[in-house]
Amino acid sequence: MWSLLACVLCSLVAVSADELVVRTTQGQLRGSVMKTVEGKDIFAFRGVPFAKAPVGDLRFRAPQPAEPWEGVRNATEDGAPCPQISENFGVPSEDCLTLNVYTTKIPKTKGDQLRPVIIFFHPGGYFSLTGNSVFAGPQYIMDQDIVLVSSNYRLGALGFLSMQDANLPGNYGMKDQVQVLRWVKNNIAAFGGDPNSVTIFGYSAGSRSVFLHMMSPMSKGLFHRCIAMSASPIKPSDGRSPVELAKKLADLVNCPSTSSKQIVDCLRQKSAEEIYTTLRKFREFGYNPITVFRPEVEPDLGDGSERFLIGDPHELAVAGKFVHVPLITGYTTLEFGWKALQIIGNSSLAKEMTDDFERVGPIVFGYERGTEKSHQISRELRKFYLKDQPITNASEQALGQLYSDSIINFPEDRSVKLISRKSSAPVYFYKFSYAGRWSYIYHPPGSKKPYGVVHHDDLIYLFHNSALHPFITPRDAEYQTMKKLTKIWADFARGGDPTPEASPLLNNVKWEPFTEKNLKYLDIGSALDMKRGLYQDRIAVWEKLFLIPGPAAVKNE
Ligand SMILES: *[C@@H]1O[C@H](CO)[C@@H](O)[C@H](O)[C@H]1NC(C)=O
Ligand SMILES: *[C@@H]1O[C@H](CO)[C@@H](O)[C@H](O)[C@H]1NC(C)=O
Ligand SMILES: *[C@@H]1O[C@H](CO)[C@@H](O)[C@H](O)[C@H]1NC(C)=O
Repeated sequence: MWSLLACVLCSLVAVSADELVVRTTQGQLRGSVMKTVEGKDIFAFRGVPFAKAPVGDLRFRAPQPAEPWEGVRNATEDGAPCPQISENFGVPSEDCLTLNVYTTKIPKTKGDQLRPVIIFFHPGGYFSLTGNSVFAGPQYIMDQDIVLVSSNYRLGALGFLSMQDANLPGNYGMKDQVQVLRWVKNNIAAFGGDPNSVTIFGYSAGSRSVFLHMMSPMSKGLFHRCIAMSASPIKPSDGRSPVELAKKLADLVNCPSTSSKQIVDCLRQKSAEEIYTTLRKFREFGYNPITVFRPEVEPDLGDGSERFLIGDPHELAVAGKFVHVPLITGYTTLEFGWKALQIIGNSSLAKEMTDDFERVGPIVFGYERGTEKSHQISRELRKFYLKDQPITNASEQALGQLYSDSIINFPEDRSVKLISRKSSAPVYFYKFSYAGRWSYIYHPPGSKKPYGVVHHDDLIYLFHNSALHPFITPRDAEYQTMKKLTKIWADFARGGDPTPEASPLLNNVKWEPFTEKNLKYLDIGSALDMKRGLYQDRIAVWEKLFLIPGPAAVKNE
């Protein structure tokens, strides 16, 4: 209380403790005050339950709405991250279905103007990280007049285990995200947010999630614009079977695996830790595949239960079966390029990839396995990227490009092409190439030298990650990039146009939509520049190997 009062006294606009109480449909919440980089008060409501704890019989089920409470509930601390191996961003707990709301203006009367809402879904390969204020600090973006919501969702097997039937239908983590969208619709006006102006924004696994919400019958009508950074599920299937993964998990924790009923009954008796610590046993070659448990197509059970994903994302995109809303998407210059280091730095992995590329390629780069087509893809990729040479230290750049193109760039490219082809709303494509002093990958490890502009590096300018990076201040060269990115994202959230008017901060650039004809993208470097044709020489190889299926191949849903 005293620290709160001290903060009130020192701020220009006095805030009384009463003003920090907001009424939601479940009950009242008390927030706390944080500060933006420019010194504005952020009213932060953290650790707000949006669903019941998914424990006991609720494990492996769609989320249940949270219980109401009496009186005022303190929402002054982050909730626990969902179960995961890392404790870098807080101690995980299965009771993790909480969200944070940040606002700089709590409405006094019904007539107060509401602000656009941005909902952030965090990255982490569907097995790690959190939306809490340590990982996704609101101090930069809250200088824009928006309301920010950032949530957790269930991860790993606990979030995505699927036997493709009623016992284990899958997609619990995605249904958590839908529950967040529903919570926002019902509650956000009380925080000054406009439920009719909602932008969903995700990074990596969160970005894949955003594309899936565009296709989900459960998410329809709950958002109006999308920002999807550095990953897409719109790519040819790699054919991995969720049923095989579920049976393997059951075996690993000594559960019977003959029926899905046996599996789910037994797994509900295991601790969360026993389940998530099996992750490394699913890695088949070094740290690959990166993502194991993930969103899957849900069968129609015929019982009227809600399905999150009703078809293959690639096929749905080809058929134009997604909501037509303005979209920003793109990726960084080097993305997963640094992953090459994990292979060339390990002579046994380098040798295995050299000797057995046709087996290892599909595991690492995510395409179908074991078929004649698979072998052909492996041969072509190896020839194009690696010039059929053995993997050595000299392969670093080529292998890095293969990593980036397979995991991020080709799926992104396919997404902007298919979506812009069918959508009545604009698609804005970017490459983030600004190189600041901080990064998610330093090389050599322990040095202060960024490997390059890699996966997550653009997130540094949108959210303050207090566990990993310094706070950006006006004295830092990086400040300008932070101001540019937060302005563009907020303007887009407001009206669906990322550059609604000329702005000197943005070099007066007009971000023009991407089409298959113009291939335009915004290069976000030290300056902002419209360019054409991002990595199309490399992408052409993928387009030849993975033809866009004709509409006839798309099953009708
Ligand atoms: C909630 O926070 C207030 C103010 O900091 C404090 O006085 C109160 O004891 C807290 N309530 C609970 C249940 O923790
Ligand atoms: C190389 O990779 C193998 C397989 O993942 C692993 O068992 C081994 O410990 C790694 N060696 C080094 C030196 O990291
Ligand atoms: C790469 O270089 C390191 C030393 O810099 C060496 O230990 C390693 O064996 C080399 N790897 C390959 C595959 O040549």
